[in-house]
This record gives sequence, structure tokens and C-alpha cells, in this order.
Amino acid sequence: MTRLRVIAIDGAAGSGKSTLARGLAEALRLPYVNTGIMYRALTLAALDTGVDPDDGNALAELMSRLRFGLSDDDPPEIEVEGARPSPSLMSERVEAEVSHVARHPQVRALMREGQRRLGAPGGVVEGRDIGSVVFPDAPVKLYLTAEPRTRVERRAEQRGAVDPIDVEEALHRRDARDARVNPFETAPDAIVLDTSDRTVDDTLEVAVAIVRDRMPELFA
Ligand code: C5P
Repeated sequence: MTRLRVIAIDGAAGSGKSTLARGLAEALRLPYVNTGIMYRALTLAALDTGVDPDDGNALAELMSRLRFGLSDDDPPEIEVEGARPSPSLMSERVEAEVSHVARHPQVRALMREGQRRLGAPGGVVEGRDIGSVVFPDAPVKLYLTAEPRTRVERRAEQRGAVDPIDVEEALHRRDARDARVNPFETAPDAIVLDTSDRTVDDTLEVAVAIVRDRMPELFA
């Protein structure tokens, strides 16, 4: 049987995980599966249809009707209902509710199923529980961290925010909510990479070297 071709990238917002995951997917020519998009898409659908973020069963029902797939891009990326993820998935409105939506076990079970389906043929899979829960057999698991100040700066830059204080507050609020209702599950065998003092290229280089060492088949 061929080995699972999954690279798990976990970490908090602003840790650099999306940048690294996309860069690795490009370098390795594997699909880029950003699981945060799936939680955000379910949250937006709940807000738009009036489903209560505290009602786990109603959310699971809504989730079972959402269609996630991979695009024809290079690298392929997550599609929601056959289209590229909408920019509104990154809105404050969604970020304020996503941790609540993500905390329900029924929702997480369906997410896990969908994420395994998308990632199983091979991919760089990004999230918070990928190495621990979704793909515990991934041959490479990276866990990204960064100093709080670096995370806020990156987030402000990504969002083109005028007021970094707003970004800092929103990030800390979401961290606190996630820590309370939806704590990180870190895989004991994950390699921790602190990206605070590394450039994007540095981080990518380190990650590619780890993958080359552990998954030489991807470079054959
Ligand atoms: O990664 P991103 O910041 O886009 O994730 C948005 C939210 O989705 C997180 O704050 C978390 O509540 C939830 N999430 C999760 N498990 C994942 C990915 C995201 O609980 N694998």
C-alpha cells in the first residue's frame, strides 16, 4: 500500500501556517486543503440562514448539505459549493462566531470526514487538529507558533487594517474563545517551528528540508 501523502500544518492565526501551507503545496505540487475555510463557510451559512451557533444538531444538518471540493487551480484549493471561497469568510462577523460553531462534536465529526476525503489522495492540510485528529498518520506534522506581537502584525498586514489595536483585540478575543471552547489538540510527534524570527522563505526552506527527509518519495 502506498504511504499517506499528507503534510499536516497546525497553528494559531498569524503563526504563518497559511503562507507556509500554500508555499509547500506549490513546491510539492500537492493540493492545499485549508480546513479553517470549512469552519468559516459553515459559520457564514449559519449566520445567513439564521441557524443558532449554539445548536449543534442544526449546524450538523446544515454542514451535511454544504459541498466542499478542490479546484482545478495549481495547486488545487478548497471550493465551497463549487466556487472559490468568498472574501466574506474572512469578515469580523464570521470570526466572532466561528469558535462557537467549531466547538460542537457533531460538527467536528462531519468536518473530520470531509477533511479526510479531501486530503486522503494527498495534500498539505492546514488547521488546528490535523496532525492529532484528522490525519494522525501523516508522515510530516508541523506545528507553527509565533510571538503574539508578530501574529498581530501579520494579521494586520493581511487584512490591510488601519488600526492594529482592533486587529489585536479581535485576535486575542478569538484566541481566548478557542482556548475556552475549542482547545488546540497538538500531536505529540509534531515538529514545532517558531516563525517569529524567520522570513517566509526561511520557514519554507526548513519545512521543505523536513519533508524531503521524511517523505523522499515526493522528490523521486
Ligand atoms: O485557521 P482559521 O483561523 O481560518 O480557522 C478559523 C476557526 O476555525 C478557528 O478559530 C477555529 O475555531 C476553527 N478551526 C478548528 N479546527 C480546524 C480549523 C479551524 O476548530 N482544523
